[in-house]
Amino acid sequence: MADAAAKPHSLRVCVGSGCSMRFSYDLLTEAEDVAPSAEWHVAACGCLGSCEDGPNVSVDGQVVVDVSPEAVRRIVSDRR
Ligand code: FES
Repeated sequence: MADAAAKPHSLRVCVGSGCSMRFSYDLLTEAEDVAPSAEWHVAACGCLGSCEDGPNVSVDGQVVVDVSPEAVRRIVSDRR
């Protein structure tokens, strides 16, 4: 596995209680399926501080709220 710092993009999926109740694990599965591992560091993370707007992810350090699996695919394809 390549070092996370060597990858150009990161996608962290909040699996805090608020987001996991809103099916954020589905986003993690989607991200692992669609994000090329050579380019993306995909990982679960703790609360991103916007629980009521979840499920949320952090893309290259920027929080994105109310994310769907379709949005995960769009995020990845937009950065190719
Ligand atoms: S639980 Fe996901 S932002 Fe707080």
